[in-house]
Amino acid sequence: MRLRFRENGPYVLDLPEGTAFRLGGQEMRLERAKLALCRCGRSAQKPFCDGSHKEGFQAEAGELEAEP
Ligand code: FES
Repeated sequence: MRLRFRENGPYVLDLPEGTAFRLGGQEMRLERAKLALCRCGRSAQKPFCDGSHKEGFQAEAGELEAEP
């Protein structure tokens, strides 16, 4: 699994489109081939990124890789 930290933006998980996941007991599916999670704390749709980080959030880019 690879988790990217976008410069001045969200955590991004690259997963196949349509991947099923569960959030708060609710079954969901990815509509895109990535999942962007809020890192700035400003999103009105937490835990998802809604683009609010564009209003001045600053953080370095990075990447975390893990193998099972
Ligand atoms: S990182 Fe995008 S809204 Fe927080």
